[in-house]
Amino acid sequence: MPPVPCGSRLQVRGAVFHHQLTATVTGCLLALGSRPPVRPTAPRIVTLPGDGIGPEIMGPAVRVLRALGDFATEEHPVGGASIDAAGTALTSETLEACRQADAVLLGAVGGPMWDTTDPDAPRPEQGLLGLRKGLELFANLRPVRPSPALLDASPLKRERIEGTDLLVVRELTGGIYFGDRGRRNGSAYDTCAYSTAEIERIADVAFRFARRRVTSVDKANILETSRLWRETVTRMAAEREDGVELEHLLVDNAAMQLVSRPADFDVILTENLFGDILSDEAAMLTGSIGMLPSASVGAGGPGLFEPVHGSAPDIAGTGRANPLAMFGSVALMLRYGLDMGNRAAALESAIDRALENGLRTPDLGGEATTEVATEAVLANLQEGE
Ligand code: IPM
Ligand code: MG
Repeated sequence: MPPVPCGSRLQVRGAVFHHQLTATVTGCLLALGSRPPVRPTAPRIVTLPGDGIGPEIMGPAVRVLRALGDFATEEHPVGGASIDAAGTALTSETLEACRQADAVLLGAVGGPMWDTTDPDAPRPEQGLLGLRKGLELFANLRPVRPSPALLDASPLKRERIEGTDLLVVRELTGGIYFGDRGRRNGSAYDTCAYSTAEIERIADVAFRFARRRVTSVDKANILETSRLWRETVTRMAAEREDGVELEHLLVDNAAMQLVSRPADFDVILTENLFGDILSDEAAMLTGSIGMLPSASVGAGGPGLFEPVHGSAPDIAGTGRANPLAMFGSVALMLRYGLDMGNRAAALESAIDRALENGLRTPDLGGEATTEVATEAVLANLQEGE
């Protein structure tokens, strides 16, 4: 099917778009901020392995990338690794290298050795937040489509989960994550603020990706930012003529609906903190948080692609990390960040075939190590050629 025209100069996803795997939505994402597709040399990828299992899944990701073509990679520290090396979670060298790259691939940040309640001590997460803000990555896309082979690995019954294919569109550079915070006279405060413009640009992304419905999630019965959110999204929906439906859910209700009727959702649009929480919940629908990739894109430079699962310090160093969310993030990078949709699709089907052939890492109830999982995907990649 031909792509659906959208906006004056864009063509957004084809009508057969599957959020995670099969779409040709490069027009949308390139316009959202990725670099132009034509380049004379190999794409330049900055890799940021980070902490915990980050480096253990980044190595395999680079192997997979090399199996797919010619890419120039350059590694930099971020998070706890950067705190240890340079005293700060994000150095200006790392940020500048990312700005110059065609795309950024990140493992994970954080770990107990850097945990502190001292507000003045550096924290690994500042590395990630600094990258999001510094690269203006305001839109975080978290596609949730359980692989057919994994339907029985979901904590939900097969009949509930079957047909689930949803996209969480999370606002990533505003809200309580970036508001004023501090301590005063024995109290602490965090501030949540959103401007109309911030809400409009993320809602626009959600509407562009929607096939039938945008579910906007807020807490408008309590929060003023949520009331502005709801008002803005409602106005934008009324101005559109593409037949995309809009529904509003309060965040507590959304958390419940997500496990009771996941297949009914199409695009879930929400603010930064709610998106953080709901996307972990949605990730588990796929059987394991070790399966969920994500793409963060913005208005200008390169996108950032990372698995949702985090640094998993409990299994770091054991060789048991599931690399599939990282591979999925490589696929999102190829498609959305580098306009290499064919290679993305090849990688995604190699992942699916490996799972169909029985690949199961410990988080999926099996015993495959990171190395075994990587070999399985590489073997399927070669077979698919
Ligand atoms: C995520 C993570 C981050 C977040 C942390 C590591 C700062 O949980 O990407 O969902 O809260 O956004
Ligand atoms: Mg999170």
